[in-house]
Amino acid sequence: MLKVEGLGKRYGEHWIFRNVSFDVAPGELVAVLGESGVGKSTLLNSLAALDTVQAGRIQLDSADVLSLDEEAQALWRRQEVGFVFQAFHVLPHLSVAQNVALPLLLLNTPGQEREARVQAMLQAVGLSGFDAREPRTLSGGQLQRVAIARALAHRPRLLLADEPTGNLDPETAERVIALLREQVHQLQSACVLVTHSMAAAAVADRVLHLRADGIAPA
Ligand SMILES: Nc1ncnc2c1ncn2[C@@H]1O[C@H](COP(=O)(O)OP(=O)(O)OP(=O)(O)O)[C@@H](O)[C@H]1O
Ligand SMILES: [Mg+2]
Repeated sequence: MLKVEGLGKRYGEHWIFRNVSFDVAPGELVAVLGESGVGKSTLLNSLAALDTVQAGRIQLDSADVLSLDEEAQALWRRQEVGFVFQAFHVLPHLSVAQNVALPLLLLNTPGQEREARVQAMLQAVGLSGFDAREPRTLSGGQLQRVAIARALAHRPRLLLADEPTGNLDPETAERVIALLREQVHQLQSACVLVTHSMAAAAVADRVLHLRADGIAPA
């Protein structure tokens, strides 16, 4: 469902990575490991067409992502991609429910359907009843679960997660990753998870190692 072929990224003359090829099946969670600075975040940004690449092809379902123009890419991203970042990016001035509803608002999802979806996602991440809470009143693990609920609210085909448990204690991190995997399986989304955590990698369906000259099973 996600097919990446010969992806290469360089700044000036210097290739960050090249010959990066891999597939992710529906409902599969693939963990990407690699040294600091090898280009893991750059790879995720490239998969979302947020970063330009100098070589390769990205196919998600029937979309040839890199051949779309910028406007079509923005629409594709809004509809088909969800993000979870280490730094949460939960908006502090919005309530928990408003944060989760955000991708649905951007897609003009009707109010009733939006509300139902927000409730379903909050329940899925164990935050029922947290609707009106302000993000600053939540713990790190709770915030991260809000971020996951938001990333999956619009049922994206592709979920990209960059160190989503970096700030969490090991037990909470394990629970958050298990939740992520459960949700990815349920929605049958393709998930690429960047992590330094072996525990997180252990929960993945497959582990790949990113190097400057390609990506391979770890
Ligand atoms: N605008 C830029 N110009 C030149 N080099 C850049 C630019 N942006 C990023 N880089 C380089 O690209 C490389 C990949 O960065 P990236 O953030 O993707 O690494 P990473 O694998 O995510 O590292 P970490 O594990 O520390 O998060 C780094 O060496 C970085 O210095
Ligand atoms: Mg990074």
